[in-house]
Amino acid sequence: MSEIIVGTPVIEDIKRLFEKHNLRKKTVVLFDENTKALFGKQISQTLQKQGFTFVETVVPAKETSKSLRTAWKLYGELIDAEVDRSWNLLAVGGGVVGDLGGYIAASFYRGIPVIQLPTTLLAMTDSSIGGKVAINHPQGKNLIGFFHLPELVMIDPSYLASLPPREVYAGMAEVIKYGFIADRDFLTYITRHFKEIVAIQEPYISEAVRTSAGIKADVVEKDFKEQSGLRATLNFGHTFAHGLEKLADYRYIKHGEAVALGMVCALHLSEKLGTITHSELDEGLAVLRKFRFRSGLVQKRFRDIPAETILESMHSDKKKVDKQLRFVLLQGLGKAYLHDEPLDDSIVLEAIEEAKKSC
Ligand SMILES: NC(=O)c1ccc[n+]([C@@H]2O[C@H](COP(=O)([O-])OP(=O)(O)OC[C@H]3O[C@@H](n4cnc5c(N)ncnc54)[C@H](O)[C@@H]3O)[C@@H](O)[C@H]2O)c1
Ligand SMILES: [Zn+2]
Repeated sequence: MSEIIVGTPVIEDIKRLFEKHNLRKKTVVLFDENTKALFGKQISQTLQKQGFTFVETVVPAKETSKSLRTAWKLYGELIDAEVDRSWNLLAVGGGVVGDLGGYIAASFYRGIPVIQLPTTLLAMTDSSIGGKVAINHPQGKNLIGFFHLPELVMIDPSYLASLPPREVYAGMAEVIKYGFIADRDFLTYITRHFKEIVAIQEPYISEAVRTSAGIKADVVEKDFKEQSGLRATLNFGHTFAHGLEKLADYRYIKHGEAVALGMVCALHLSEKLGTITHSELDEGLAVLRKFRFRSGLVQKRFRDIPAETILESMHSDKKKVDKQLRFVLLQGLGKAYLHDEPLDDSIVLEAIEEAKKSC
């Protein structure tokens, strides 16, 4: 598995870490426009000081950069710069840069090492860990890609100071998710220190990032290629969330916001099936009520869409197997399982209705 380092300033350690991992000091640094503006100077000065040979590349800060067109352009830049198999790639950014950088690294010269330097809360706790790298196809997100584990994940939580609040909350949804699926004590910690974590205060933010990244790495290590159902538990709340995102055409709702709403639905569904108690449901909902949406609009739309429409959209999601919806449910707070038995639509609809009342 990849080594995950959490520290400030993590970049100062880059030479030592590369040497430890037998990585050559020849690096392609991939930024998006924002991470280049925010961290480009500090990173290039450090690389220079520590004797690296490096090439910098920058892509637009948007989801559409995860495309074959952008990848093709970058391959050309790397060939022009005489980058070959002895090089590696350092991806500095959120999930977009991490996924695109990982995709390029997995394919260029049949594969060069990738080092992730995530700069969003979502990337630090989720997308930079676990080796799933992909670009989008016009017919669907993340359809073209590889399993390409990062050699190293270098996390510096101080980079989050400049992250807009909406992006912080988007990552926070996944942080809460880890508490629900794997660690009840962590859920309590999040409940107690929610305000400090979203305000990027130490030591709370580092603790939240370190624990989340650790849980993700642990799950991925035990079920790398999603065969035992364990890795699928990382999708807690996501069956509902994908339906909501699809309905919104991936526009007005961010993934993390959809996951927050999806987890409210999944908690209700768990309670209906008797796998969590009523008081556990209340405890779970109390954490999720701390979640802030940019405006009331997201929740209002959620309440206004008929539950049947949401369910229909969930049915059209690509990630289902044998046309059967797969739900990740809780077996008490802090433990998740993949519910493989088919569920009646009526119980799912009831869970959505109740979730609307609690939002
Ligand atoms: N590979 C995986 O396992 C996995 C898992 C989850 C999500 N993803 C992918 O991740 C992507 C979403 O990632 P994301 O939410 O990080 O979005 P993102 O990469 O688009 O970043 C969000 C925005 O924040 C900006 N930004 C980044 N760091 C910043 C900082 N420190 N300060 C200020 N602004 C900063 C970016 O430039 C961008 O505008 C999606 O494409 C999704 O498919 C992949
Ligand atoms: Zn997610």
